Amino acid sequence: MTGTTGLEVAGLLSSKARRAGSGTFGAPRSAEGRISLLGGFPDPLSLPREEILESVRLALERDGVWALEYGATRGYEFLVEQLLVKLRRDQGITARPEQVLVTTGASQALGLLVDALCDPGDVVLSEQPTWMGAVRIFRAAGVEVRPVPVGAEGIELDALAETLEALTAEGRRPKFLYLIPTFQNPTGVTMPLAARRRLLDLAYEHQLLVIEDDAYFDLRYQGERVPPLRALDAREHVAYLGTFSKIMAAGMRLGWIVAEPSLIAAVAGVKPEGGTSPFAGAVAAQFCASGALLEHVAELREIYRERRDATLRALSETMPEGAAWTRPEGGFFVWLTLPPGVSAARVAERARERGVDVMPGSACFFHSSGDDTIRLCYSFVTTEQISEGIARLAGVIREEAAD
Ligand SMILES: Cc1ncc(COP(=O)(O)O)c(C=O)c1O
Repeated sequence: MTGTTGLEVAGLLSSKARRAGSGTFGAPRSAEGRISLLGGFPDPLSLPREEILESVRLALERDGVWALEYGATRGYEFLVEQLLVKLRRDQGITARPEQVLVTTGASQALGLLVDALCDPGDVVLSEQPTWMGAVRIFRAAGVEVRPVPVGAEGIELDALAETLEALTAEGRRPKFLYLIPTFQNPTGVTMPLAARRRLLDLAYEHQLLVIEDDAYFDLRYQGERVPPLRALDAREHVAYLGTFSKIMAAGMRLGWIVAEPSLIAAVAGVKPEGGTSPFAGAVAAQFCASGALLEHVAELREIYRERRDATLRALSETMPEGAAWTRPEGGFFVWLTLPPGVSAARVAERARERGVDVMPGSACFFHSSGDDTIRLCYSFVTTEQISEGIARLAGVIREEAAD
């Protein structure tokens, strides 16, 4: 379109920008006055403002100049040190500094991996449904996604094995498999240990790179911890993505990759800004070193456990016959399957008119499907809002089912 300045921008855009479409600028604040079961935003009232203020003071006292300079591409040195401690203690992942790259959130980590590995037309594997951000990144990259369904125990391994065989028969090698094995976004399901081991065997057999997105690992509310794939991987086939967004503050915009050193070096090569914010890195490192992170995560588990429980309670009290949902042991999401014949797009639209925002599940699919599903996110709302929001949603679903 030609604007009043006369510059015609559409004709200048790259094929990547055209595939990606316009960016959206929605902010969580716009949800005020409504009940938002939509975005995976951390609870705003629990954000650790005092502890972060103290970490800023400590960071500037300890390392003032270097926190305010350009930094090493790998990431702020003290943060990398603290990350290695955290990963070993909590995740059971042992890593060396050359296996780590600090990024602007897990979003950038995935975007950079795709930049480093993929040309348009390349084949990648992904579980489906999956995180909407990954759907967007793969679309913008112009890759061909072969989706593999997610069941009650995470990615369906028989379907994965079949897809790998089919690709071998076609003479095509997938660049990677992307998945979220723990408290998956959007379904909330977690892969059991035996399934993780089988997945790794398949990866070894097919020389497959696995990108494990573990954004929710620390937020377990019940049951035993299951080790990340990266902790079980003896052969460097797993690139591990993590983030401070859900456990410290999403506004820090800090995430990381743990991977084989030559892959880390290749990803660093396509990272345009060099080191991710040394200032944020220095603050986050202090937050970890002082013990504030561990305390904060313990508090978050209590807050989100209550919300998860309130969500499951409200669903069982209000949903009509024919609706089904997952029962996650952690993370932010419950995946709702609607009674047969009810459209999620219509339900979401009518719920919006009643002040409740939910995500139609189709946003988590690569090809238009999933219109019988809805993602419910309980992290951003109080338990009272959850009860009220789900009751209103159930009312809409009943009406739609009756129509
Ligand atoms: C599975 C998953 N990966 C990555 C992200 C993005 O993380 P970050 O805020 O670190 O970019 C999210 C956030 O919604 C997510 O759910």
